[in-house]
Amino acid sequence: MKKALITGITGQDGFFLSRWLLGVGYDVHGFIRRNSAASLGNLHALNQDELDRLTIHWGDVTDHTIVDTVVREGQFDEVYHLAAQSFVSASFTNPSLTYKTNIEGTLNFVNAIKEYSKHTRFYFAATSELYGKVQQTPQDERTPFYPRSPYGVSKLAGFWTVKNYREAYQLFMSNGILFNHESEHRGKEFVTRKIAQAVAHLAKGGTEPLLIGNLEAKRDWGFAGDYAKGMWMILQHGFADDFVLATGENHSVREFVTEAFRVVQMEIVWQGEGTQEIGVNPKTGNTLVAIDPQYFRPAEVDTILGNYTKAKTLLGWHPSVTFPELVKRMVEAEMERS
Ligand code: NAP
Ligand code: GDD
Repeated sequence: MKKALITGITGQDGFFLSRWLLGVGYDVHGFIRRNSAASLGNLHALNQDELDRLTIHWGDVTDHTIVDTVVREGQFDEVYHLAAQSFVSASFTNPSLTYKTNIEGTLNFVNAIKEYSKHTRFYFAATSELYGKVQQTPQDERTPFYPRSPYGVSKLAGFWTVKNYREAYQLFMSNGILFNHESEHRGKEFVTRKIAQAVAHLAKGGTEPLLIGNLEAKRDWGFAGDYAKGMWMILQHGFADDFVLATGENHSVREFVTEAFRVVQMEIVWQGEGTQEIGVNPKTGNTLVAIDPQYFRPAEVDTILGNYTKAKTLLGWHPSVTFPELVKRMVEAEMERS
């Protein structure tokens, strides 16, 4: 039986990856930082049998002493390093924490593997935020990077740390350059989940409009379950490498909002401009969406679009959920929850 460690297992991707690895027969271990409620986050969505089969190690990725111990004692076949301060917006207000968690946390793991567990295959959660102010469209593994946030910069350092350890010490360390992927387990502060929640609230007669930032930003949005499987496929490949996972299609935040209202059979019309723009229900005249400048970022990634040809050709990976299916899934989950 293969043995894998997942850091960031309480997050969105941690949930889908642990479910996938348990499903294909792995002995799955999670690395979780202590919080006062001893909360397991998204792992609560696993069933009891899945939970019983998990082994938890309590630790923070910035503490190299516990990272060394867990890696040395665990002798894992695979380590999936997903733990991060992953919210771009928070990286502008908390840049130091973002660097510490995302750079030092990554260095701690690759170094522990180099010192104590050379056979371990390592996956790093890199990101399309590396492309930031895009230098070519669509973006693939050869596109130059231009990060636009402390988060992007921290992940760039992580990406090169992994590549450098791979080349310098002949270790199996791969980067997954994943474009945005979403689900009903997405953190509530990310725009897709925030929209889905607000639309469900309004569809059920609520009156609080959705307060949002940049409606024009475009993202290449896929379904997180597909991407978790892709992480595993990256580590099953014959050699360590860097792979883009994306859908090859992008949509604006505005399109996501419109599609989400379509799911609950509500129409929205847009009036006004700039920060005065609002989205209105044409039947009632009620405001459904308004702009709140607090959600604009000091530097924005205006548009990203991935080319996943390499992953398709070498790994046989492809996304399985379309944009309308993804929006429907997320809005329906919120309708059931609320
Ligand atoms: P997420 O839901 O925000 O999960 C982040 C995880 O990291 C949580 O389990 C969190 O634990 C853990 N964590 C944060 N700081 C930690 C620390 N100091 N020590 C230990 N654990 C810590 O993120 P996600 O959406 O699942 O994304 C997974 C990874 O992929 C992240 O590295 C993210 O940057 C990257 N990524 C995500 C996307 C995407 O679209 N989702 C795209 C590209 C790359 P708590 O539960 O305690 O907060
Ligand atoms: N969060 C948020 N909230 N974003 C908003 C809002 C709002 O109210 N209004 C507009 N946006 C815009 C943001 O400015 C951004 O352009 C876009 O919606 C997506 O924002 P997020 O959902 O926060 O995701 P992200 O693209 O910044 O980052 C996510 O994807 C990256 C991969 O490209 C995160 O998961 C990162 O960890 C990941 O690396």
